[in-house]
Amino acid sequence: MKIIDGKSTAFETCEKVRLRVDSLLKSGVEPCLAVIIVGDDPASRVYVNNKKKKCAAVGIKSLEFALPAKTTQGELLELIEQLNKNSLVNGILCQLPLPEHIDEKAVIEAIDPQKDVDCFCDVNVGKLWTGNAVFLPCTPAGVMEMLRQYNIEVSGKNCVIVGRSNIVGKPLAALMLQKNATVTVCHSKTRELASVCRSADILVAAVGRAKFITADMVRENAVVIDVGINRDENGKLCGDVDFDAVKDKASFITPVPGGCGPMTIAMLMQNTVKACEIQNKGVLKNE
Ligand code: GUN
Repeated sequence: MKIIDGKSTAFETCEKVRLRVDSLLKSGVEPCLAVIIVGDDPASRVYVNNKKKKCAAVGIKSLEFALPAKTTQGELLELIEQLNKNSLVNGILCQLPLPEHIDEKAVIEAIDPQKDVDCFCDVNVGKLWTGNAVFLPCTPAGVMEMLRQYNIEVSGKNCVIVGRSNIVGKPLAALMLQKNATVTVCHSKTRELASVCRSADILVAAVGRAKFITADMVRENAVVIDVGINRDENGKLCGDVDFDAVKDKASFITPVPGGCGPMTIAMLMQNTVKACEIQNKGVLKNE
């Protein structure tokens, strides 16, 4: 069994981003990401802090907009409109979940698709499925990049994804299909789940339930990717996979923490620098 080190794959990705940022800075263009957080969800606060820290590390400017939980949908949409219009802002990220009185879908769709570095809006999801993506969805792209860096072939493999969220399961299916995998997406109504999981060469857990994937669901020498971030009964961070039971069966496995998490942020950095490059194409050509 080999542990996939998401911290080191993220470092490699971020080094490449840093070189692209340096070249933009030399041309007088400063990549900038606007990060919006509404309310005081502690997990969201941690994620936003990590994103801002990584921006600083690669040379991207970050602007935080921390809004109170009672912010109205209209106020949030007004802020997004201002950021859409601001040519110095290249990417806009609104941390989810939002308070219940705000329609998440309306907020996602309000972001200019050219600044939608999460790749959440319908236009960008459509481009993803037709193979014309500009931005790649961060967590799924992070999974693919880890597999690439570890020389794990995807083409022709049976990939089973447990979880069908818009953020992970569905877009990851698109990326794996593009790489010629045979993809199965499982969910709460899937019959014979354990047996379907055992058919996987590459098994991805993205359900959001602590230690949901047990050893009997994993084929000998399968690659196991754990996208979950949960707390176990002792309050300790853990993934969707029962790591200790599964690790000796898997050929490769991602740990939690230190697996998919750092890669998600690295891909966000990559999308932001790409947004900046595209938005400044004319300017850069004239240098
Ligand atoms: N909440 C959980 N994951 C994400 C993410 O990747 N982006 C945003 N904006 N919110 C999230």
